[in-house]
Amino acid sequence: MDFQKEFPLNDDILYMNHAAVSPWPKRTQQAVQNFATQNATVGSKHYLQWLETEQSLRNKLASLVDAQSADEIALLKSTSEGLSTIAYGLDWQSGDEIIISNEEFPSNRIVWQSLANQGVKVIEVDLKGDHVVNIERAISTKTRLIAISSIQYASGRVINLEALGKLCQQHNVLFCIDAIQSLGVMPFSAQSCNADFVVADGHKWMMGPEGLALFYCRKEIQHTLKLNQFGWHMVADAGNFDNHDWTIADSAKRFECGSPNMLGAHALNASLSLILEVGIDTIFSLTQQLHTYLRTQLTSAGFEILSPKEDFCGITTFKTNTENHKDLYQKLMANNVICAPRGGGIRFSPSFYQDKETVDKAIHMVKKLL
Ligand SMILES: Cc1ncc(COP(=O)(O)O)c(C=O)c1O
Repeated sequence: MDFQKEFPLNDDILYMNHAAVSPWPKRTQQAVQNFATQNATVGSKHYLQWLETEQSLRNKLASLVDAQSADEIALLKSTSEGLSTIAYGLDWQSGDEIIISNEEFPSNRIVWQSLANQGVKVIEVDLKGDHVVNIERAISTKTRLIAISSIQYASGRVINLEALGKLCQQHNVLFCIDAIQSLGVMPFSAQSCNADFVVADGHKWMMGPEGLALFYCRKEIQHTLKLNQFGWHMVADAGNFDNHDWTIADSAKRFECGSPNMLGAHALNASLSLILEVGIDTIFSLTQQLHTYLRTQLTSAGFEILSPKEDFCGITTFKTNTENHKDLYQKLMANNVICAPRGGGIRFSPSFYQDKETVDKAIHMVKKLL
């Protein structure tokens, strides 16, 4: 497969921003166009087929996170919504503690801090050094949950999820992973890391649109989350509108109260079909190779790599000699180098289908604009 041909990006766009919002593959563009045509010409005539696409998406997501089955997957609208479903589904006691890191994206900090009025305390652990040891030190008898991003959004630090999962088991602590920066670019297994919850919107490395997120909830603990949203779609007998007796679905569908985001499902299903076709191991290895090259070139251009030297994936953040990286970022964007100002520098996050030439051109533009 010619990977670049799968992405109809304009030639003059140097896309270094998959860790923010990914461009869509061609097949995703086509899936959305086809869905729009169907809606405009025959409405919901093919609704049964749409449901098949939606189920196919659940199966793909189950495979990508290595769930036991698609019954552990709910489709929500964002990572933040998934995290809120957990935070406001668990039954907290005053004095309970939640461990997060001091590098989290606000979605995985604010929601836990919002539980302060229930007496819940959030402990932010510094990840520098051996992050597993640092987190273990913070665990106490009051710890109820560890919530962490699989890859930190600004630095690209990759978290040792298997080790943390073991710690959680040993200390009887729930394990919640914000996997938005790794699903679609790095192998992931909810089962191997003993995750209780995994959340991730589809618009980064899964290469789908914003507004449709994976919410994985381990089967055995689904019933322990109190539900805060109710509707026709989350019940066992969802299609039977005349039935006034209802029970909650015995699967993660219990977290989906109403009509699905069918447009988003068609788009994300198409994007994931590409990812699964290429294979996550291939994507990971090509992305690593590209970032290794990027880092070498940035270093020889005299820039300082702020991201960890080892255990990285998908994200390379670097500092130049400018005092003002926000200003540099704006100039880069104006010159079609799509990137982000993060972690005190510029974050480049190219993906598997791009080549060294694209990386060279982006670095050349950085040098030119300084
Ligand atoms: C680690 C992490 N979590 C969550 C999000 C986004 O959350 P949401 O899907 O709620 O918009 C981002 C976006 O940059 C992120 O980097």
